[in-house]
Amino acid sequence: MKGTDMKRSYKIFYVLLTGLLIGSLLGCNENTMAMEKEKGKAQMNNKKEQFGTTPDGKKVDIYALTNANGCVVKITNYGGIVVSLTVPDKNGKMGDVVLGYDNLDDYIKNNPYFGALIGRYGNRIGKAKFELNGQTYALAANNDGNHLHGGIVGFDKVVWDAKEIQQDDAVGLELNYLSKDGEEGYPGNLKVTVKYIWTNNNQLKIEYSATTDKDTVVNLTHHSYFNLAGKGDILKHELMINADIFTPVDEGLIPTGELRSVKETPMDFTKSTAVGARIDQDTEQLKFGLGYDHNWVINNYDGTMKMVACLSEPTTGRVMEVHTTEPGLQFYSGNFLDGTITGKGGTVYKHRTGLCLESQHFPDSPNKPDFLSTTLKPGDKYSTTTIYKFKTK
Ligand code: BGC
Repeated sequence: MKGTDMKRSYKIFYVLLTGLLIGSLLGCNENTMAMEKEKGKAQMNNKKEQFGTTPDGKKVDIYALTNANGCVVKITNYGGIVVSLTVPDKNGKMGDVVLGYDNLDDYIKNNPYFGALIGRYGNRIGKAKFELNGQTYALAANNDGNHLHGGIVGFDKVVWDAKEIQQDDAVGLELNYLSKDGEEGYPGNLKVTVKYIWTNNNQLKIEYSATTDKDTVVNLTHHSYFNLAGKGDILKHELMINADIFTPVDEGLIPTGELRSVKETPMDFTKSTAVGARIDQDTEQLKFGLGYDHNWVINNYDGTMKMVACLSEPTTGRVMEVHTTEPGLQFYSGNFLDGTITGKGGTVYKHRTGLCLESQHFPDSPNKPDFLSTTLKPGDKYSTTTIYKFKTK
């Protein structure tokens, strides 16, 4: 072999060797990643336990969904209630960030919708009636002559059929319920499915879907009371809501139909602001709500997933983003909590110790032709998704 040929052969040999080395390194990386994933999977689990029995004899379970970070969300199939949700603070210390009770009986006796699934209609329908296709439907009036959160026995008070969900990067629970034609006054048999998915990046994803056999109205939401500090009131929590407009209400908390700018009012959360900074200002809307209890109109709504709100708590560094496909967000600052409820671990829930961020279509839409429609027809599918994302800063 000539000298130049030999040099070329060496060159080819080295290129091949380097290629082999890189290839095996990459392969090894892939293996490590797969192993990591397996490790994550191994830690993820869904533990089912009995939670109790309803007064009419139905057995109820509670599911502990543990993700790969060891963060646990406990959900019962009674009302689809999120009983606890444990996430780390900025120092890695775990804490429960939702209000609730330790046992089923307390949820059955007196639940101001702690952690519950809400349906058929989230929030209020004025005078507990609406017209559809020329027919008037009278609904259960459970709130000063109005209809609130689906009526006397809303979706928060029924036992759902539950199925466990396992995904590569999440654990979950699928809940199914058939709301019969005429239930609480609503037309149509409504088949509802709600999937709670608890991911390995500490995101609680809620997928709602429903179909009907007669024209009806539907507006589903979730009613956790959050307190990112896990104690005290929520007045120092900072909140951003991506909305330039809100829907003002009358004394009965029914929207007037007006779409009003938040500009230069205490309803402006376009920049992150402490919840307590303006809550007691002397304005008609804050008086009617006894604080914040209003629907914000999300900017640039188009039915796709958007970040609509961000809540943060300065002492723990916990942050919760709300992403949704919905056009509205009800921010309720726990104004009706008054110290008469003793919840988990003997905690007394005083005024404003939790706040709700409920993704939704606007309250009273069935009576407000200018609001986006909440009508569902046979053959169509109701389908919305909301994600609560937990982080620290
Ligand atoms: C409503 C409040 C109501 C509360 C019940 C909220 O979604 O907007 O007006 O009092 O739920 O817990």
